[in-house]
Amino acid sequence: MNVCVIGTGGREHTIVWKLAQSASVESIYAIPGNDAMANIATVIPMDWHHSEELISFLKDHQVDLVVVGPEAPLVEGLVDILEREGIAVFGPSKRAAQLEGSKVFAKKMMERYHIPTAKYEVFHDVQSAKACIDAYGIPVVIKADGLAAGKGVIVAMTKEEAYEAIDDMLSDNRFGKAGSTVVVEEFMEGEEVSLLAFVDGKVVVPMVAAQDHKRIFDGDQGPNTGGMGAYAPAPILTKSLEQEAMKNILLPIVQAMAQESMPFKGCLYAGLMITNSGPKVVEFNARFGDPETQVILPLLASDLGTIMWACATGTLQEDMVSWHDRSAACVVLASKGYPISSHRGDVIRGNLTDEENTLIFHAGTKKDKGEFVTDGGRVLGVVGIAPRLEQALQGAYHRIEKIRFSGMQYRKDIGRKAFR
Ligand code: AMP
Ligand code: GLY
Repeated sequence: MNVCVIGTGGREHTIVWKLAQSASVESIYAIPGNDAMANIATVIPMDWHHSEELISFLKDHQVDLVVVGPEAPLVEGLVDILEREGIAVFGPSKRAAQLEGSKVFAKKMMERYHIPTAKYEVFHDVQSAKACIDAYGIPVVIKADGLAAGKGVIVAMTKEEAYEAIDDMLSDNRFGKAGSTVVVEEFMEGEEVSLLAFVDGKVVVPMVAAQDHKRIFDGDQGPNTGGMGAYAPAPILTKSLEQEAMKNILLPIVQAMAQESMPFKGCLYAGLMITNSGPKVVEFNARFGDPETQVILPLLASDLGTIMWACATGTLQEDMVSWHDRSAACVVLASKGYPISSHRGDVIRGNLTDEENTLIFHAGTKKDKGEFVTDGGRVLGVVGIAPRLEQALQGAYHRIEKIRFSGMQYRKDIGRKAFR
């Protein structure tokens, strides 16, 4: 089949790379893609917002399946537009994508279907939000309702910080419409893990669990980022915790969405907190995680094209999905200034081709006069794969020693948590 992947980042590069190995896949188009995908896909510099142009491209090139990478097109309803044209899509409808697009929607669904998550209240006005903060006590978590590029969540350690977050969102409109409704949430203690699953509307098949590293500096210090590294499988999610998460969280939410006539299909990402009373939901995402994908998909032993087609057409079966008994670790190389700003145009030196046990996925690069240069905050994901996590990490870090660009920054402690 012919497949088209929408998106540009490291997640999409990994999806394209895995689809390129799928026997079921004949040709791959990436829209708008990135320059590093050009050897395995046809990269088309088109804006997915121009849906008429996109639809005629897909029809002209007999694309059988579209895979939507990032959240924005999902939340804006690209899947619905394509499906109306008879095109099969891996990704949820606009209504189903509310699980990620609206924190209030997700919390209400969890409440209605008794899915474990932090206690919360919803506010539109400053006074009552602050009263709730007083009642919940510190630490407390403040979330903008809508999409805010990962910046809409404040974990406040002091009352001042919590009040300031409320003022920012509700009085100063720092997040525009996305922040005009806020959720105040009880702080959950524990360790976080990402459990992603393939979903076809009914059937849910979990992937290997992964752990992200959201803060910019070692030891989980400094501001939040899109994710500075990941590893999989994450030993914190034992088999019995995974079963608990499936039974209490993933299966009931997928069933609930179907029951409410907005079946979820695609990749459902559950951000979980492993608390003393079991796994609880921190957030749902309606897509693959970045950089979790960079460590999950290299461990997939099955044909990704077949799985995605089955998710899109409601024909997913558990035995379609199997995993290599190995570990993967990804270290993100970020550009100068990230996450406050990003620096573009710095030449990347070193060998960037995939090697037997290390892969390089491009997140923010472009080709300039034959050389790759930085073109975003997160630049590259360097992935090591090995029988054991220690070796996978060693492989990734060893490979990084041979890559450099001006202002390059990365965490030195990716995966350390797995050994505690
Ligand atoms: P989210 O975008 O909802 O995943 O939130 C971003 C980060 O904030 C999460 O990865 C957690 O580290 C943290 N966080 C969110 N909600 C809570 C909570 N209720 N308790 C503790 N930490 C939280
Ligand atoms: N790595 C976190 C996310 O993709 O949302």
